[in-house]
Amino acid sequence: MKIKLDWALPNMKDAKKRTKNEIERVDSFVIPDNMSWLGQGKKYYISTYGCQANERDSETLAGIMDAMGFVQSDIYEDVDVILINTCAVRQNAMEKVLGEIGNVKRFYVKNKDIIIGVCGCMAQEEGFVETLLEKYPQVRLLFGTHNLHQLPSMLYDAMICKKRVVKIYSREGEVYENLPVHRFGNHKAWVNIMYGCDKFCTYCIVPYTRGKQRSRYMDQILDEVKELYQQGYKEVTLLGQNVNAYGKDIDDHYDFATLLEEVAKIGIPRVRFTTSHPWDFSDEMLDVIAKYDNIMPFIHLPLQSGDSAILKLMGRRYTKEEYIALYDKIVQKIDRCAVSTDIIVGFPNESDEQFEQTLDVVRHCKYDNCFTFIYSKRPGTPAAVMEDEISLETKKDRLQTLNKLWNSFALEKNKAYEGKVVTVLVDGASKKDSHTYSGYTDTNKLVNFTGENIEPGTFVDVYIETGKTFSLDGRAI
Ligand code: 5AD
Ligand code: SF4
Repeated sequence: MKIKLDWALPNMKDAKKRTKNEIERVDSFVIPDNMSWLGQGKKYYISTYGCQANERDSETLAGIMDAMGFVQSDIYEDVDVILINTCAVRQNAMEKVLGEIGNVKRFYVKNKDIIIGVCGCMAQEEGFVETLLEKYPQVRLLFGTHNLHQLPSMLYDAMICKKRVVKIYSREGEVYENLPVHRFGNHKAWVNIMYGCDKFCTYCIVPYTRGKQRSRYMDQILDEVKELYQQGYKEVTLLGQNVNAYGKDIDDHYDFATLLEEVAKIGIPRVRFTTSHPWDFSDEMLDVIAKYDNIMPFIHLPLQSGDSAILKLMGRRYTKEEYIALYDKIVQKIDRCAVSTDIIVGFPNESDEQFEQTLDVVRHCKYDNCFTFIYSKRPGTPAAVMEDEISLETKKDRLQTLNKLWNSFALEKNKAYEGKVVTVLVDGASKKDSHTYSGYTDTNKLVNFTGENIEPGTFVDVYIETGKTFSLDGRAI
């Protein structure tokens, strides 16, 4: 029997709409008096899945929780609120989330006052919400990616009015400024420069779960970076589903190259950005990256497939040759530039020959790092209804072949660091051994190294002894 719901459920039809309407911008955030004490003496736990946008959203949720008097805990035990911030990009991410929701049921069984909340991209999925509400009674709060700012009133309704709260909008979305933030990093920070995505790659659920592309105003981004710099942060990463398209939804004066240059001029030691779609990558961007030493020589440039026909079916709007030409230009213009990528194998009806084209691009680009995935059908996306005769076995074999190939290049690249000295921004000491530290190079290589009394957030020169597939080993000098 289907349960009757009073709430509007997410739907793909509304989520897909893109209008020319002006984006609503909300600058003030106030927690009403009757809600600001709600967290006194109470603790919360947040679990985050998926991409950096979700990480940054969890920092906003934590900021709001702190402002209501809750205290963050890094274990589930004895907390009053558990928030699970979910990812819907692939089926296996969704399965992990369902596993965790199942796992925390034991707390609800013991204590009916505990609030287990589910938010993020899965909450925006048509079909999922109904199942969740029917089969998981422990979930008392469910809200979407457009509803973070309503957390105080949602918690009030759940905790005080004892309601089961569901708040999900399927719409283009707004830009909220000045929401509280509790940053999880002490020397590295995420900075949203835009929300949503209008690219609608045919396999991808993100444009439906996160709404229309909405850029933040440049002065607001710059103010945030200046504040982080003053607070002593050493690195910022500018975040967007496709940062190269930054500002195109505002007007012609806004573009990513200008924003990046203005951010670099603030003087924060390390500036990174992600993700760059090859489609909007401009020469001006390359000039700016090459010009400023504090913009890191590292670019994440998703390939997805190396076959032009598959790329067309994916709606990526570049060919194999155009991608390679862009890659060549990047490594030629930016000294020592490291490049990473995302690749999907087994897109509907991808042939052996088409997969071979992907390997061919990998052989050309010799990536420093690859994130490789088996295509996962996302209901409601155009690719979900494409015919697919390729077996899962074949897809798994392809993934293995691809991983073996890129790993060999990553190892080769990392071996080239042996005997060299690199500058590392230190994340901290290893939990197992207080004389072993880790951190990242400007090219985004993970470095594990030995040393004495090194503070997190400092820059240290490290002599590299061994280059491995996924990291470099060395000693501080
Ligand atoms: N199946 C597999 N991988 C996907 N990605 C996005 N959607 C899917 C999907 N349906 C991958 C893309 C993207 C990365 C974040 O996730 O490679 O760049
Ligand atoms: Fe998804 Fe394509 Fe947008 Fe990236 S650019 S979020 S892959 S639709």
